[in-house]
Amino acid sequence: QKITIDVAYRYFQTPKRRFIVADTPGHEQYTKNMVTGASTADVAIILINAKKGIIKQTLRHSYICSLLGIERIILIVNKMDLVKFSKKKFESVRNEYIDKVKSLNFLKIMAIPVSATLGDNIIRKSKNTDWFKGKPLLKVLESIDILSKKQNRESMFSVQYVGLGKNNTRSYLGIIRAGFFKKNQKITVYPSLENNIIKKIIFYKKEISKATEGESVNILLKKELDISRGYIFSSTNTDIELSDHFQSKLIWFSKNQGFVGRLYFMKIGGFILDAQITKIKNIINIKDYSEKKGTKLEFNDISIIEISVNKKIPFKNYKENKSLGSFILIDRISNETVAAGMIIFSMLRSSNIFESKHEISKIKRNLLNGHNSKVLWFTGLSGSGKSTIANNLEKKLYRNGIKTFILDGDNIRKGLNKDLGFKLEDRVENIRRIAEVSRIMVDAGVVVLVAFISPFKAERNMARNLFEKGEFIEIFVDASLKTVEKRDVKGLYLKARRGQILNFTGIDSPYEVPENPEIILKTDNQSISKTINYLLKKLNFDLI
Ligand code: ADX
Repeated sequence: QKITIDVAYRYFQTPKRRFIVADTPGHEQYTKNMVTGASTADVAIILINAKKGIIKQTLRHSYICSLLGIERIILIVNKMDLVKFSKKKFESVRNEYIDKVKSLNFLKIMAIPVSATLGDNIIRKSKNTDWFKGKPLLKVLESIDILSKKQNRESMFSVQYVGLGKNNTRSYLGIIRAGFFKKNQKITVYPSLENNIIKKIIFYKKEISKATEGESVNILLKKELDISRGYIFSSTNTDIELSDHFQSKLIWFSKNQGFVGRLYFMKIGGFILDAQITKIKNIINIKDYSEKKGTKLEFNDISIIEISVNKKIPFKNYKENKSLGSFILIDRISNETVAAGMIIFSMLRSSNIFESKHEISKIKRNLLNGHNSKVLWFTGLSGSGKSTIANNLEKKLYRNGIKTFILDGDNIRKGLNKDLGFKLEDRVENIRRIAEVSRIMVDAGVVVLVAFISPFKAERNMARNLFEKGEFIEIFVDASLKTVEKRDVKGLYLKARRGQILNFTGIDSPYEVPENPEIILKTDNQSISKTINYLLKKLNFDLI
């Protein structure tokens, strides 16, 4: 029903401490909310119904807590009144829990027998559990140590906005994510790795000499350097790394599947980058924390992946620094937040690969050829006419001295993409490879005619993204399902209708109609020669 279920934050305080309770819905439908709540928590309270014992959800939540770096667990064995405050029952639940989460390496697990409705062991120790030697919940909360061993407290400021003041002086608005900053302090700027000195710190119009963690301030620097959104200021001598390829844990939130090779936006700190999952290493089974192989990510999957972004960014592993080591992935079309990730480490490979620049460039090749190279990307249902049109167009272009090449689904699938079938994840990879091959061919000076069904918007956009403006021309070959079924040149629609071929586009696999193609060719009632003439006119081939 599209109802947003948020995290309910509640606040209270005792003479000893102030508390923020993030009350997150337990159902797996709302893992996103659970992750949001857990991402800022120092301690997790996990509730177990004493009568029911440990359920799948208990393990799932424990895993997410560990994933998000919560090191202390308070295990509330609730509804003790329903089991007659049985010591045996409490101990068996506690022991089973400790055993099941062994591999998660929590620093501390404190179990408390509770009856929430009656108030046993919530604020005061209950007489009903005189066998229980521990403290009631509130006492535990007031005394629990919340400092993390692993979190590194080095000072870090992240730039969210660059302000332009009088005389064009630049100031950097942002938040202090860790530690503190002082006037005249030396800093290092990431990712440019330049040194600088803090000239002024301004907090709501007033100059201050020191600002600490959590405060949003405006910082002016001694040297004016090129600094933009997402940049990090750090106390010098920190070991922030730069990378564009990571191994990471990932929680998939979306009902839509996640694929290797599909292009997403990654938001990490203040940066928004293009990101591609390059490999799914393992998907974790929540029941016993075992790992299995997988090729796509489903709703609520927790996995270990490799992911690359289009720019080197400053980061730390999540264990050491939550804000520099965590990111979200966003769907580029719907803007939905599809996943949350925690960086484990940088892939060494990325820092060992250097792009070599060649003297003979695309521009020089184009000059030699006498025309510009580009991609004509034909998309449409099987049988809509993509290959036929590409063939006829190529003949015309050839006669005009234009260097062309056709990449065709049926042909490429016999060679380069022999290993791929028609499942969604295979189609994503199919198009990713073709997009990359097209880019190489455009660099080589060729006009590439791509004739693939390419049913998904995301992959067509990914392909478009690889090219410069004007180089990628999306041509929607539009024929109705009725027409293509009637044509059925290869007899495949008949087989698909009979269930002899699965995942057939238009029958039991989707085709996402292009929203803004450069050219639309309606082929239902149009002769091929008319279509080609129309296409040639539209393409307006720029012979140079
Ligand atoms: S794409 O969806 O991954 O872009 P591609 O263009 O490579 O598809 O291949 C489509 C061709 O494969 C069709 O023209 C058809 O001849 C053949 N084919 C075989 N099985 C299927 C299927 N399940 N769905 C679509 N096309 C199929």
